[in-house]
Order: sequence, then C-alpha cells, then structure tokens
Amino acid sequence: MSSGTKQHPGVILVTGGGGYVGSHTVVELLNANYAVVAIDNLSNCQVSNGKPESLNRVEKLTGKKVVFYEVDIRNKDELDRIFKMHKISNVIHFAALKSVGESTQIPLSYYENNVGGSNNLFQVMHDNGVKSLVYSSSATVYGIPLALPLTETHPTGQGCTNPYGKTKYFVEEIGKDLCSAYPDWKVVSLRYFNPVGAHPSGIIGEDPSGIPNNLMPYISQVAIGRRDFLRVFGSDYDTKDGTGVRDYIHITDLAIGHLKALEKISSPSFKGFQAFNLGTGRGYSVLEVLKAFEKASGRKVAYKLVDRRPGDIATCYSDANLAKTELNWVAEKDIDEMCRDTWNWQNNNPNGFS
Ligand code: NAD
Ligand code: UFG
Repeated sequence: MSSGTKQHPGVILVTGGGGYVGSHTVVELLNANYAVVAIDNLSNCQVSNGKPESLNRVEKLTGKKVVFYEVDIRNKDELDRIFKMHKISNVIHFAALKSVGESTQIPLSYYENNVGGSNNLFQVMHDNGVKSLVYSSSATVYGIPLALPLTETHPTGQGCTNPYGKTKYFVEEIGKDLCSAYPDWKVVSLRYFNPVGAHPSGIIGEDPSGIPNNLMPYISQVAIGRRDFLRVFGSDYDTKDGTGVRDYIHITDLAIGHLKALEKISSPSFKGFQAFNLGTGRGYSVLEVLKAFEKASGRKVAYKLVDRRPGDIATCYSDANLAKTELNWVAEKDIDEMCRDTWNWQNNNPNGFS
C-alpha cells in the first residue's frame, strides 16, 4: 500500500461509505492519502449529526475529515450534483442491500436498489467522463461450486439461487457490457468471500440491525450475552466435522484489497473488466470458528446443532492466487485475529454504534 505523504490525484467516490465494508475502506483510503467523498442513503446506518456514526468514528480514527453526502444512488440528479461538485477519478461502489433471506421476500426492491441503482450510477459516471469502477461483488456469483477452490474462471450466474446473488451477478454483467461497448471503461470486480472482524482499534466494526444473519456477529452477540445460543445450521455436511465450511477474511485485509484494485485500475496498461477473488484460500468450519472465538474472548459460546439452513452450501473457499500475482495482495490476518478484533469491537460497543 502506498502511504507516503503525497495526495493522490483525483477524488475517490465511495458509495455506501457508511456501511461495514465501506467505512473500513474509507479508513485505509484516508490513511493512504486519497481524497475521498462518501455517499450513502443511510438505509443501513446508525446516524448522528446527519452522518453515519461509522464515519464520525472514522474521523476520530484517522484525524481527517470525511466529506459525506446523503445521496441515494437511485436518484440521478443527486448523483450528478456530486460529480459536478468534485473531480472524481474513480468510483468504489459498495451501496447495496445485502440480506440473502430478505431478497427472497422483496425481490423487486433488491433489483431496483442493486441493479437499477448501479445502472443509474454507471450512467452518471459515463455522462461525467468517469470510467473507472471498483465493484463490490461476492463469491455468491459462483452459485453452487462445481470445483474447489473457486477460481475466477469458474462459471458465474448459474446456480445463483436468490435475488441478492443474482443482483451481484447482473451488475458484473453490466460492467462487462460497458467495457465491451466503450474501450476506455475499466472495471475491477472484487468477489469477497466471508468478510468478518473489525478495525483493530475497536472503534468501528460490523453493526447488523436486528438479529444477525451471519455467523461471526451472531457468535459475538452470544458471547456478550445479547443472545442465548448459536444455532449451528447443519451438522451432516460432507465436511471435516459436518458443519459448513467458509473462507473468512479479515475486514482490514479486504479493505486494503480495494486500494490494490485502485492501483491496478489506474495503471495505463489495465483495460476492460477483470474479476478478483478476495479470500484467504482457507476454509474453517462453523465449529472451528466457534472454538477460535471462545479462545479469543475467553467466553463460552453456547450452541445447538439444528437443521441445515435452506440455500446453504457445504463448502466454499477461494483460490486467491490471481489477486496475489496481479494485485500484489494477500490476506495477512488469520482466524484468531478475526475473532480477537470482532470481540474487541463487540466488547467496547455492546450495542454497536447506537
Ligand atoms: P452494509 O449494509 O453495511 O453497507 C452498504 C451501505 O450501502 C449501507 O450503509 C447502506 O445504507 C448503503 N446503501 C444501500 N442502498 C443504497 C442506495 N440506494 N443509495 C445509497 N446508499 C445505499 O453492507 P456491507 O457488508 O458493507 O456490504 C458492502 C458491499 O459489499 C455490498 O455491495 C455487498 O453486497 C457486498 N458484499 C458484502 C459481503 C458481506 O458479507 N458483508 C459479502 C460479499 C459482498
Ligand atoms: N451459520 C450458522 N449459524 C448462524 C449463521 C450462520 O451455523 O446463525 C453457518 C452457515 O450455515 C454457514 C456459515 O455459518 O455454514 C457461514 O454463514 P454466513 O451466513 O455467515 O455466511 P454465508 O457463507 O452464508 O454468506 C455470506 C454472506 C453472503 C455472501 C457470502 C459469500 O451473507 O452475502 O457470504 O461472500 F454472498
């Protein structure tokens, strides 16, 4: 990562900057002397003083101001105003709805927000001559793995079983079509595996609203006493201990991956669309994560083995070699650090940002 004192030319527009991945990425961008403008519609943020609380805390953490606007990416006029006010060179696009279960209940909202919103954003970028995009994609675009580890050449779109996953896939396809139509467009799509953890300071972290869907926030809420026990979804998978296996990646490693993507996309030789996996290349079972969390927190985490969760797959982990060779990026933090930093955040902020 370049962290000299010289400011990088141009401004990085970060959509969804108040969210979990967005706020951690803004920290790394500011620390590396990028000029940042963050936008968010506040639909999934705790707000104080008209700003996401996460970004107020990013200011404390970095000692720098965060330029923030409340903007919905579905509103072209609002977006256009931001592009006219700032000399934007690149966009990092996080803004999306992200709950797999919810997407099966309100699919139209997911298509409108994630696909319609992205299409709007790309139109406004194009109109304003900004043609460089780093996109938040997901391992979910691979559907049910045909082979493991998952490489970027694995088919995408087939077997995406829920509307959320399809929106991630469709937006990648829009990015590819843009690059085919316009040779000066550049898109890097980052396919995250399972982001977990928090900034090591414990000042920002993941703050899911309501009952957490994901494993790590659920475990940490059991450890802090907000929930009674973890339900382990499935203990009869064909895995080392029968529970689901995933490739967990520390949020600061993931955030730094975006800076590496920016460096790549800004190099004159980079052209067109390219996808990269961001993962560790290692899978951990639910019970292994639980044990690691107990070790990191010194707390017992009660659990019950229950039926499989519909739509879950047994095993998913990345081949992250392309990011290593092409982006000069590797995930450095292990499962113990992921658990330690999750616990540190949870312990310092038992009720998240509120
Ligand atoms: P998040 O909900 O914490 O952050 C998303 C942010 O986008 C929120 O602050 C929300 O208010 C904002 N937003 C939503 N719709 C918007 C709109 N129409 N206009 C403006 N802002 C809007 O989620 P996250 O975990 O930080 O995820 C960020 C991105 O990473 C998403 O695109 C998600 O699909 C992708 N992703 C996340 C994970 C994960 O496990 N966290 C895994 C793979 C991919
Ligand atoms: N799990 C439990 N109990 C829980 C929650 C999860 O046993 O309360 C298990 C799941 O069955 C799975 C593993 O923990 O085996 C991980 O589940 P998560 O819900 O944390 O993550 P997923 O792999 O299901 O999905 C996540 C994001 C998706 C994203 C995908 C790949 O939620 O949006 O990673 O990036 F697409």
